[in-house]
Amino acid sequence: MTNTSGVPARRLAIKALRRIVDDGAYANLALPPLLDRSSLDERDKRLVTELVYGTTRMLRACDFLVDRFVLDEVDPEVRAALRLGAYQLHYLRVPSHAAVDATVGAVKGRGKSVVNAVLRRVADAEVAWPDLATELSYPDWIVALLTKELGAEKATRALVTMNEAASVHTRDDGYVQDPASQLVADAVEAKAGHRVIDLCAAPGGKATDLASRGAAVIASDLRPNRVRLTKRNIDGLGAAVPVVTADGRQPPFRAGTFDRVLIDAPCSGLGSLRRRADARWRIEADAPARLADLQFDLVVAGLDLVKPGGTLVFSVCTLTNVESTGVLAAVREHFPTLELLPVPAGSWEAKGAVGYLLPDEHDGMSIWRVRKPMSAA
Ligand SMILES: C[S@@+](CC[C@H](N)C(=O)[O-])C[C@H]1O[C@@H](n2cnc3c(N)ncnc32)[C@H](O)[C@@H]1O
Repeated sequence: MTNTSGVPARRLAIKALRRIVDDGAYANLALPPLLDRSSLDERDKRLVTELVYGTTRMLRACDFLVDRFVLDEVDPEVRAALRLGAYQLHYLRVPSHAAVDATVGAVKGRGKSVVNAVLRRVADAEVAWPDLATELSYPDWIVALLTKELGAEKATRALVTMNEAASVHTRDDGYVQDPASQLVADAVEAKAGHRVIDLCAAPGGKATDLASRGAAVIASDLRPNRVRLTKRNIDGLGAAVPVVTADGRQPPFRAGTFDRVLIDAPCSGLGSLRRRADARWRIEADAPARLADLQFDLVVAGLDLVKPGGTLVFSVCTLTNVESTGVLAAVREHFPTLELLPVPAGSWEAKGAVGYLLPDEHDGMSIWRVRKPMSAA
């Protein structure tokens, strides 16, 4: 007799996977409404979440595991079921009879026999991975770039870490914030009475952190919907932080009036890939260079706002050279009188004047800081 427990959870997971992989929906937007509308209990909802995010993350590896035994083209539902089955067998270590039966039970019609035959072979076969990018389930370009820039050992460690779900860290005031972000806020060295502007502030994590240290902070961001979210977060914390909607490249503030300017810039996000299961499949190989141009423009505008003797702090949740040392080199070439501040003490590793954190308990991050001279730069 076939054991049918777990079938509804697999059926929902297949539906969600098809939305994400076949229709291009964002994983974090596609899954929650499907879960809300389902009648699954909380335990099964957690299982579906793990199955969908995990299979999305490990998609390339799961395809390799099943493609060894798939002889003909399969339809999208069967492909989704095979990926899901491979994820359960290989990564969740669900006993093979349970994983195969429940997954086969979630497929309609003739596809059942293909899913059954292929998953039984996946369950039994040894794996010989063809290369690291397939094994760790990343696009080739991400593995190649991080390996070239960080070295094989650090790159592999970072990539392995970002295949695990991020843990949740909550600040004393209840705001959920990655510890790396708190280290960036520390590096701003904002003091009570300082005027601080965060030019890329949404959803407000660092701005509220800086305000809690007694600084007078303004939170500004380009995107109106993200500014609204920031305002809700600030109000929820009862913080006194004005919010502004503005392009950071043309900030509506008087030049030379801020003690601290934070540019927590939009970036390729290669240090925080574990936060979005589908992010690695969306980012394009030319994104780091494209974003570095935007980051440079944001820094130029930000520097104009810094008081003589004040500092600008630049941070990105990525690990590429072009978005860290590259932007800094271009900035120093344009503004040769800027004083380079040391890499913050503590957890940061130094790459020249850039400090970086590999993904660990916290996200991967890069940071650098400069001070404007007292006389006009
Ligand atoms: C890394 S996030 C900021 C995170 C935020 N500082 C925090 O700690 O919660 C980058 C932000 O830059 C914003 N952004 C993108 N382009 C921008 C621009 N030209 N001017 C200002 N903000 C921009 C995005 O909307 C996004 O909210």
